[in-house]
Amino acid sequence: MPLRGGKCTYIAEKLNNTGEVIAVDKIPNKMKLLKQAADRLQLTNIVQITTDALKYGPVAPAYDRVLVDAPCSGWGVFSRKADLRWQAHNDIPELIKLQEKALEHAANFVKPEGYLVYSTCTMNPDENEKQIEKFLRRNPKFTLVRAENTISSDFTENGFLKTIPFRHFMDGAFGAKLQRTK
Ligand SMILES: C[S@@+](CC[C@H](N)C(=O)[O-])C[C@H]1O[C@@H](n2cnc3c(N)ncnc32)[C@H](O)[C@@H]1O
Repeated sequence: MPLRGGKCTYIAEKLNNTGEVIAVDKIPNKMKLLKQAADRLQLTNIVQITTDALKYGPVAPAYDRVLVDAPCSGWGVFSRKADLRWQAHNDIPELIKLQEKALEHAANFVKPEGYLVYSTCTMNPDENEKQIEKFLRRNPKFTLVRAENTISSDFTENGFLKTIPFRHFMDGAFGAKLQRTK
């Protein structure tokens, strides 16, 4: 059975089942799987909202932390999702635009001093480093919190979290932690 919401349930557990974790995804079946995972772990601090995240609101800088677990080309999970290897990946320019919109929208919800984390499961620099560099140029209120400050340098590159399947023997992933300074 596919497992969903690993990051969401991990965050909820780290909060010791206190506070409020708002999970937004537009696909009802994904939300059903998240509910099953949350129930199995007896987590009661997750609020699930099934909607287009780009329309989620009211927009207000109300959240301490926002995670954008972005739709991406998935190059980092080819070993688990073999079908992805045979797709033409013509949709990458569309994905890049969607990621950009998701980041811009999400940024509006972050409180001053709060954090915005962007993650993908790809190694494509256009969806990762370049996406974040463009975001930081457009949003001078945010700065990069360098990953090597908290994560072993084996898993970081240029301030970002980065795992590569053939080097780390795990899924490829990218993460950027940004802080809103004003
Ligand atoms: C990389 S996956 C993350 C999956 C999820 N975090 C999990 O652990 O299962 C990207 C997710 O973005 C969702 N998505 C794509 N466009 C969206 C949109 N406009 N609004 C809400 N969710 C969207 C997809 O349904 C997909 O589940």
